[in-house]
Amino acid sequence: MRDRHRGRRSGVLQEEHQELRRLCPACIARHGVDVGRRFIERFAGAQTGFLPAFDLHHDLARHLWDESRHSQFGFRQLPKHGVDLMTLEHSLDLYHILIQMPPAERYAMMTMEFEAGSFPTKARIMDRVRELNDFEADTLLAFDRNDEQNHVRYGHRWLPVIMKLCGHEEPVDEFVNSTRRHFAELAEKFGGRTPHTLSPDRRFTAAKIKAMCDA
Ligand SMILES: [Fe+2]
Repeated sequence: MRDRHRGRRSGVLQEEHQELRRLCPACIARHGVDVGRRFIERFAGAQTGFLPAFDLHHDLARHLWDESRHSQFGFRQLPKHGVDLMTLEHSLDLYHILIQMPPAERYAMMTMEFEAGSFPTKARIMDRVRELNDFEADTLLAFDRNDEQNHVRYGHRWLPVIMKLCGHEEPVDEFVNSTRRHFAELAEKFGGRTPHTLSPDRRFTAAKIKAMCDA
């Protein structure tokens, strides 16, 4: 906002502008979304039906952004510990299986199964990483865990809405349980594939990572 416009700025605009100026550059993109969201809340109004759709897309976008950040955490830290990213095994099992499922089932598996069930494994990983005395890795993993807690919250909030949008009328628990069974059936047929350009002897496999950790 330029100063010559200050006199015409509403109270809400001034408040948002002041808040924006307090931000560090790293937060500004995310905060831009929040600022826009608050304008829509105040001026569009929930009664139009627009707000829930915007909230849904806001949380999905945040979820996607978090996951891309988590991936960057690995790209940043693993080479510091001698892992060559070009040889790292990347299983595409979940892609091959989930692509067979309708959108609401994919969202249910991601939030109510994979993310909700990830915390014991994350705790074990954080304990082992702490032994490396890598403060940055510790911090990034703490961000990851915090983000995942939000993702599970998103699942509880939005799965019923996504189910409704996709025409699933059954209770949520019933839907989640039938989705788990469907996933297990699909895993029999489409799981176990790990396409990679390198042969297993040159590839940094999960077994080799485990051996490195156990050593
Ligand atoms: Fe997540």
